Order: sequence, then structure tokens, then C-alpha cells
Amino acid sequence: ELKKLRIAIDGPAAAGKSTVAKIVAGKLSYLYIDTGAMYRSLTYKALSSNVDLHDENALNQLLSETTIELEPSEVGQLVYLDGNDVTDEIRQASVTNSVSHVAVHSGVREEMVKRQQLLAKEGAVVMDGRDIGTHVIPDAEIKVFLLASVDERAQRRHEENLSKGYPSDLEQLKGEIARRDKIDSEREVAPLKKAEDATEIDTTSLSISEVVDQIMLLVERKG
Ligand code: CDP
Ligand code: CDP
Repeated sequence: ELKKLRIAIDGPAAAGKSTVAKIVAGKLSYLYIDTGAMYRSLTYKALSSNVDLHDENALNQLLSETTIELEPSEVGQLVYLDGNDVTDEIRQASVTNSVSHVAVHSGVREEMVKRQQLLAKEGAVVMDGRDIGTHVIPDAEIKVFLLASVDERAQRRHEENLSKGYPSDLEQLKGEIARRDKIDSEREVAPLKKAEDATEIDTTSLSISEVVDQIMLLVERKG
């Protein structure tokens, strides 16, 4: 019988976490949990309701009145905020460029981590984010830290935008990604950081399937 492993995948923006996590979860019939979508959902709600992103108490209060559900579907993971589908809305540039400011607050993180730990407690999950291996599931059976150069990551987002017919500026993307990485890495609470026992994979010149294969190898060794 297959063990119900907990697989933690962390790394900076556009390193390929969600793409690879979804494929690995699919191969193992595990649940995929995108923790970034939870921070994005709260950010979207705060922006929509004019809550000051630097007002920690207001954000804590807002989160306590907020439900966020992640539902697997044929077309990928759907995100429901207070029962409404916000899957597309939370990817808007306004959310992307504000979310790191929301994610610095310790009260917000504490509550998010609590919710994430509940989702992961049965095992058989692939969870991606920034602090999964370090704080959310520090005893995860498998921990992966994905990396890639800023240029490569911006290029990936750029191609993604163009393929969807969205306007895209490569230099602007580089700046945005670097800024977000800086805030995520330098915050006091649970910064973006490789867990000591995580396997680091530099994906700069790897294909998606090469990254997936490396993670599946780690899974086979545990199985
Ligand atoms: O997909 P992308 O890398 O653009 O970002 P994401 O995974 O959706 O995460 C958005 C933001 O949420 C990150 O830049 C972090 O500021 C925050 N985040 C976090 O602080 N901790 C997590 N476990 C996941 C996301
Ligand atoms: O979740 P995260 O922000 O880390 O990255 P993502 O949303 O999975 O986006 C990564 C983008 O790079 C996607 O367009 C992938 O198709 C592409 N890509 C990848 O994920 N891994 C590679 N090794 C090469 C390209």
C-alpha cells in the first residue's frame, strides 16, 4: 500500500511550483494545495473592501470573517472566497503586486498556517508556497525547494501572459518578481527560505517533466 506522504514545495515566484506540484499530485492521486491562492484571496478581499494592507488588526479581523476553499476540478484548482469563485480574479496584477504586503503580518500568517495544517493533516498532499517545509509542515516526508534565475522566471511568466493573449512587459515582470522575492525573503515571520533538509532543484535549464521526474524519484525512495 502506498504511504500517504506530505510533499512540501517551496521557492520564489514563477519557479514552477504550482505547475510541477499539480502534475505530481495528479500522478499520485494526491490533493494539491496552493497556499499562495489563500494569501491572494485575502488580498483580493482587502483591496475590494478598501482595507488598509498595512493595518494588521483590520486584516486579522477580515480574515476571521473569511472562508477560502480550494476545490480540485477538471480545469484545475478552483478558488472560492466566501463561496464565490475568484480563481481568475486573484491572479490580477493588482493582487500580485500587493499580496506580499499582506503576507508579512504575523497574525495573518498564524491563521493561514492553522488552516493549511488542517488541510494537510490526513497526508496524501502536495502543498506549495514559501514556508511549507519550514513552518506549515516542518515534518513533511518530502521537501523540495525550487529555484531559477530571475531572468528565466520573468521569461516564463512573459510567455505565459503572451500565450493567454495578455499584455506583457518582460522588464516590468523582472522588476515585479525581484521586488516580491525581496519582501518575501526579508520579512521577519516565516521568510522564504530553503528548509535545511529540503532538496534544492535549480530549474533554470530544466523542463517541467525533468523537474517532475526528480521529485517522483524522491517519492519512490520514500515509498
Ligand atoms: O505563483 P506565484 O509564485 O506568483 O505566487 P503565489 O505562490 O501565488 O504566492 C503569492 C504571494 O503569497 C507570495 O509572493 C508571498 O508573499 C505569499 N505567500 C506566502 O507568504 N506564503 C505562502 N506559503 C504562500 C504565498
Ligand atoms: O507556482 P510558481 O509561481 O512557482 O510557478 P508557476 O505558476 O508554476 O509558473 C511557472 C511557469 O514556468 C509556467 O508557465 C510553466 O509552464 C513554466 N515552466 C516551469 O514551470 N518549469 C520549468 N522547468 C520550465 C517552465
